Amino acid sequence: MTTEIVKCGAGDLDTIREVGIGTYIETFDAHNPPEIMQAYLESAFAPEKLAGELAEPLSEFYLIRKDGEPAGYLKVNTGSAQTEDMGGDALEVERIYIRSAFKRMGLGRHLMDLAIELAGEHGKSKIWLGVWEHNSDAIKFYEKAGFVQTGAHSFFMGTDEQRDLIMTKRLT
Ligand SMILES: CC(C)(COP(=O)(O)OP(=O)(O)OC[C@H]1O[C@@H](n2cnc3c(N)ncnc32)[C@H](O)[C@@H]1OP(=O)(O)O)[C@@H](O)C(=O)NCCC(=O)NCCS
Repeated sequence: MTTEIVKCGAGDLDTIREVGIGTYIETFDAHNPPEIMQAYLESAFAPEKLAGELAEPLSEFYLIRKDGEPAGYLKVNTGSAQTEDMGGDALEVERIYIRSAFKRMGLGRHLMDLAIELAGEHGKSKIWLGVWEHNSDAIKFYEKAGFVQTGAHSFFMGTDEQRDLIMTKRLT
C-alpha cells in the first residue's frame, strides 16, 4: 500500500478536473438540484478556468494517490489568490477533497498536514477555510485538525442562498 502526494502543474489539468468534478458530485449532488449542479460544475471546472488556476503563482494544487490511483486533491492560496481578504499572514485551504472510496483512511489528514507545512514554509501565522454550514462531516474533520469557527459568509448556489462557516487554525 503506497500513498504519494505530488505537486501539480499545467500537465495535470485533466486529472485534477476529473477528481475535482467527481469529488464535488459525491459531496454535494444530494443537496442541490441537477441543473444547479451542472451549471456550477461547468463554470468552476471549465478547462480554461482550471488552467488559469494551475498557472496562478500564489496557488498550489496537490494530488494524493493511493496505490497509484488518484484519491483526492488539495488547493491552497496565499496573498491576493485567497477567495476572501484574510491578509498577508494567512493561507487558505480552498479545496480539500477525498474520493468516497478512499475516505477515513487518513488521506485527508495527510493533505491537511501538508497545508499546515506549506503555511509554515510561506511564513504564515494562520490557516483558514470556508465550509458549507451543513457539511457536518467536513466540519468534524476540521475540528479534529484544530480549526475553530471565526466567521461566516453567504453565497448563492444558483438562486439558493447558502452559508459558509469560516474556520481558522492559528499556527503561531
Ligand atoms: C473531509 C475529508 C477531506 C476528510 O478526509 P478523510 O481522508 O476522510 O479523513 P481522515 O481519514 O484523514 O480523518 C482524519 C481525522 O478526522 C476524523 N474524521 C474524518 N471524517 C470524519 C467524520 N465524517 N466524522 C468525524 N470524524 C471524522 C477522522 O476520524 C480522523 O480522526 P483521528 O485522527 O482522530 O483518527 C473527506 O471526508 C472529504 O473529502 N469529504 C468530502 C469533501 C468535502 O466535504 N471537502 C471539504 C469541502 S469544504
